[in-house]
Amino acid sequence: MRWTQYGDHGPGHELLGDAQRVLELGFGTGRHLMFLLERGFDVRGVDLSPLGVALALERYPEVGKSRFACADVRDYLDSTSESFEAMYSVFGACWFTDPHDLLTLVRKRLSPGGRLVFSQPPAIPGCYGPQGMFKGGFAGEPMFLRRYDYTPEAWGELLRAAGFHDVEVLILDAPVAGNIGTLLVRSS
Ligand SMILES: C[S@@+](CC[C@H](N)C(=O)[O-])C[C@H]1O[C@@H](n2cnc3c(N)ncnc32)[C@H](O)[C@@H]1O
Repeated sequence: MRWTQYGDHGPGHELLGDAQRVLELGFGTGRHLMFLLERGFDVRGVDLSPLGVALALERYPEVGKSRFACADVRDYLDSTSESFEAMYSVFGACWFTDPHDLLTLVRKRLSPGGRLVFSQPPAIPGCYGPQGMFKGGFAGEPMFLRRYDYTPEAWGELLRAAGFHDVEVLILDAPVAGNIGTLLVRSS
């Protein structure tokens, strides 16, 4: 399990510390969740794509719907009474969900001392806040998504405002000097 876009590069699941009860925010293929499950973590995931969730269930038939939940992460966190020792996201829901909504919900469902770890590409200089993008071409009915990009300093402020105290936000260098790095957030 890696947090960057460069395969065997950067830190791995040790960033989750000694958390056992873990939630993945936007699990996509399910590969990170499976990696942790195989190592004894009590890990669940939530993803809003019905097609993606169906594919994950097909790919890993041994894993039930209880671990691969299909929902918007905000609804899931808002409606569950469970708490988790860590939540994480690898280029996942933390990138695509307004942090002004998401971070407070995450903080509420983390147990005391619990941590949030996530990664995504760094912001393009000058492009901060919600960044819109059409999907599937520019003709026909509009389909689009929003990503949320901030400087490391702004991420730090957002996390502290949501109740996180111990916050580290950095840009990990790519394995090849000058290539796109990875924004990595660790907070508790
Ligand atoms: C770029 S993919 C990465 C997935 C995963 N980390 C992987 O490597 O396979 C982003 C995922 O986040 C999910 N996602 C985006 N916004 C979400 C939200 N608000 N709630 C739940 N899942 C969300 C998408 O459906 C997608 O599967």
